[in-house]
Amino acid sequence: MSTFTVRPATAADLGAIRDIYNYYVAHSTCTYQIEPETADERAAWFRERSAKYPATVAQDSDGAVIGWASLSPWKSRCGYAWAAEASVYIHHEHHRRGIGKALLLDLIERARAAGLHTIIGGASSDQTASLALQYAVGFKEMGVFREVGRKFDRWLDVTYTQLILPSV
Ligand SMILES: CC(C)(COP(=O)(O)OP(=O)(O)OC[C@H]1O[C@@H](n2cnc3c(N)ncnc32)[C@H](O)[C@@H]1OP(=O)(O)O)[C@@H](O)C(=O)NCCC(=O)NCCS
Repeated sequence: MSTFTVRPATAADLGAIRDIYNYYVAHSTCTYQIEPETADERAAWFRERSAKYPATVAQDSDGAVIGWASLSPWKSRCGYAWAAEASVYIHHEHHRRGIGKALLLDLIERARAAGLHTIIGGASSDQTASLALQYAVGFKEMGVFREVGRKFDRWLDVTYTQLILPSV
């Protein structure tokens, strides 16, 4: 099995990031987005990334970007400044190679280095892989909102999870 590395994303990665994501827009309830994301939307997302709210990618040994992760503000009010929300998406042909776990563990270290106190996770409750990954790195289930999403003609529950970051 080939190896991969995790590094900060660059503007050159945005096409691959969008392709990975748009597969799930079309095929999965792991995102409730219905219409494919445009290049402009992904570029705007990238402009909002920073040391505190980073974007990272996993790069395969052949140079291909095969996964990405990011932190985003949990809510905009100032008092939420120490909480962030995590996203991780792995190319659908590269699951179960440890890439998602490596990206999420790297995000946790970046969050701690940036002074964040907690990371909010969660997923559509039918997304067992996503939730299993979060539990594998220490996130705990916080609650379930019933039927707050709708995609592919069915109501969807969302399970929220949380990790309090270990203090140094
Ligand atoms: C969820 C996702 C990111 C997991 O990425 P991955 O690279 O396949 O996961 P990893 O190989 O790093 O798995 C790490 C651990 O997570 C758990 N896990 C991952 N996928 C799993 C699955 N399909 N079923 C059960 N457990 C799973 C396991 O504990 C696994 O450890 P193990 O392989 O030693 O058993 C990937 O399936 C994905 O991109 N899904 C679509 C997008 C998504 O749901 N993102 C999360 C929401 S932001």
